[in-house]
Amino acid sequence: MRTILTALSDELKRLKTAGVRTVTVSDEGMAALRTMVAQSKERGGRKQEPEGETQFAAAPSASPGPRPEIRASAAIEAALPPASRRTPPATAVLPPPPVVELPAGSKAARWEALRELVLSHPVCRAQVRPGKKVVLGVGSLDAQIMFVGEAPGADEEVQGEPFVGPAGQLLTKMIQGMGLKREDVYIGNIMNWRPQLPTDSGEQTGNRPPTTEELAFCLPFLRAQIEVVNPALLVALGKTALEGLLGPGRFKTLGEARGQWHEFAGRPVMVTYHPSYILREPTPKKKRLIWEDLLKVMERAALPISQKQRDYFLDK
Ligand code: URA
Repeated sequence: MRTILTALSDELKRLKTAGVRTVTVSDEGMAALRTMVAQSKERGGRKQEPEGETQFAAAPSASPGPRPEIRASAAIEAALPPASRRTPPATAVLPPPPVVELPAGSKAARWEALRELVLSHPVCRAQVRPGKKVVLGVGSLDAQIMFVGEAPGADEEVQGEPFVGPAGQLLTKMIQGMGLKREDVYIGNIMNWRPQLPTDSGEQTGNRPPTTEELAFCLPFLRAQIEVVNPALLVALGKTALEGLLGPGRFKTLGEARGQWHEFAGRPVMVTYHPSYILREPTPKKKRLIWEDLLKVMERAALPISQKQRDYFLDK
């Protein structure tokens, strides 16, 4: 039985690696899974048996049934959506990352030239669906602090501005908690487009993480924003920002890197959770962890910190 569950877990991991973020499980599939988990738990209470033996012990003695891997594959098929609906993510082959050269001039003029370049870039434009926008960072060109997220989501690709949906609203509250206004900082993303997740209807219903190639393609645009704004420090929000800035595969988990100072483009980078993680797990404990990271950012940026700010989320 554990082999079946392991095989299912492996298949889900494979889909996740391929960029699939959501999987619809049929009612029958859920029922089959529940039965398997219940049986597996029941068995867990007994003496541990080697996996292969457990499999055959589970089959009726008169008819041993199909080989474990065949049953595993049938269980996976029952649990997953039909193959026709398991549409792979768009993984268009991208050209090498662009070389961005900004004209001399004021910050505003250089940023405007960059904006024009990114928004009209044929590769970026080819990645967005009709009616949706390529997205560049926003905020103060004199910001000390630059937040870096993952990629535009559903709201951002419509409005053409990063972090305007639910995660953005939470980010704005976090910035306010630091005693700043959203307009005081600069907010960008690793990606300038929303990674496509094709669906039957043609309308995107979920997000997928960007591929390494996509990250590499957009990185020069982020470097150029850093060059123009020249922030004193960066805050990487979530694993994709971490991987985009510090390189894929350097850390197994976000937990290994968060709360510590790293370096990108010659400036300190604080790694912390993405606000959408806090939206999914809005516990005082998780809020306190992200807040502790932001306190470090405030200290490094020499922002005033009141006792009340120091104690946020401690007594809840
Ligand atoms: N999540 C991000 O990482 N960036 C956005 O712009 C919005 C949501």
